[in-house]
Order: sequence, then C-alpha cells, then structure tokens
Amino acid sequence: MEPTDYIQLLSRWGHIIPAVILVGGAIFMNTVLIPALGASEDASEVKDKVKRTWAKVIMVCAGIIIVSGFYNAYVAFKGDPKPSPIYHAAFTVKLVLVAVVFYISSLLSGRSEVAIEFQKKERRWGKINMIAAIAVVLCAGLMQVAPRVARNTSIPAAETAPSELPPTPNATPFANE
Ligand code: HEM
Repeated sequence: MEPTDYIQLLSRWGHIIPAVILVGGAIFMNTVLIPALGASEDASEVKDKVKRTWAKVIMVCAGIIIVSGFYNAYVAFKGDPKPSPIYHAAFTVKLVLVAVVFYISSLLSGRSEVAIEFQKKERRWGKINMIAAIAVVLCAGLMQVAPRVARNTSIPAAETAPSELPPTPNATPFANE
C-alpha cells in the first residue's frame, strides 16, 4: 500500500465512525429514549442532561465528518475513472440532507430561545431528522456503487485510430529476383 492509501483509509474510518455515532444516536433517541422517558417530570431533567452531552458529541462528529467528507470527495473527483452523473446526483442530494440533519440536530439539542421553541415539537422533528440521517447513508451507499466513467473515453475514435495503415513489408523473399 502507498502512503496515500493509508491517508484514504484513515479518512474513510474518520468518516464512517462519526457517521455511525450520529445516525445511530438519532435512531436510538427516537425509537428508544424519548418513548421510554414519556412525559414525566423526571423525564425533562434527563432529557436536558442528554441534550447537553449530545450537543457536544454532534459538534465533534460533524467537524470530523465534514473534514473527512471533503477529503473523500477530493479523492473521488480527482480519480480515474471519474464519478458518473448518478454519483453527482446522489452526492448533491446527500449534501442537502446533511445540511438538514446538522440544522435540525443543532436545534434539537440547543438551548437558545429559537431552539427551545423548536423543541416543543421535538418528536416530529426528531423523526424527520432520523429519516433524513438514514437517507444520507442510503445516498452514500448509492455513491459507492454508482458507475464510474473513464476519463479518456471523450477522445474521438478517429483521433486514436491511425488514418492509414503503415506499408506492409514485402513478405515474399527474393520477390525482385
Ligand atoms: C450526516 C453526515 C454524513 C453521513 C451520515 C455520511 C455517511 C457516509 C457513509 C456511511 C459513507 C460510506 C463510507 C465508506 O464506505 O467508505 C460515506 C461516504 C462518503 N461521504 Fe459521507 N456522510 C456524511 C457527510 C458527508 C459530507 C458533509 C461530505 C462532503 C463534504 C461527505 C462526502 C462523502 C464522500 C465523498 C464519500 C465517498 C463516497 C464514495 O466515493 O464511495 N459525506 N458517507
């Protein structure tokens, strides 16, 4: 393996692990934690503590995901074969969904006035966030299997094929004799 391969491996690991934490965390909160806590008085205290810790986790994970994501994109776009239009489409949808996930996550775990107002409908937004996060992973999967296009296929065949065949050497020995 070349040194750049190790950097690419680190970047993939650095992308997948925080992605698993973010998406898994969103699924856990929506399917287990919030339903289990219900609406009791203790619940709001626990939720508050969870939100404070979760906000820090999100910040660290989002930072690592963005840095490693841009590096992965640099590797994918400079490589040969290059990404196809399907890859571009999946990547664009993924980036939009990532922005949605980061925005909703920050409001769900924030403590500003806007965030507290937003949290009045936390069940609904939590579900939307979870679905968007799962869709991000689906887009990443599509990017993985999307066909790649060789960079040199744009060269017209006429330019690559010789216009005239080179003269064939006279194969018959002693032909002029
Ligand atoms: C919530 C945020 C995100 C999640 C959950 C996520 C998830 C994933 C996953 C699971 C993979 C597959 C990893 C692998 O097989 O190596 C991946 C790949 C990738 N991600 Fe993300 N990602 C997120 C954000 C981003 C961002 C912000 C960018 C770009 C700025 C990005 C760019 C990429 C690229 C370029 C790949 C490689 C795809 C390929 O060519 O195979 N991701 N992502």
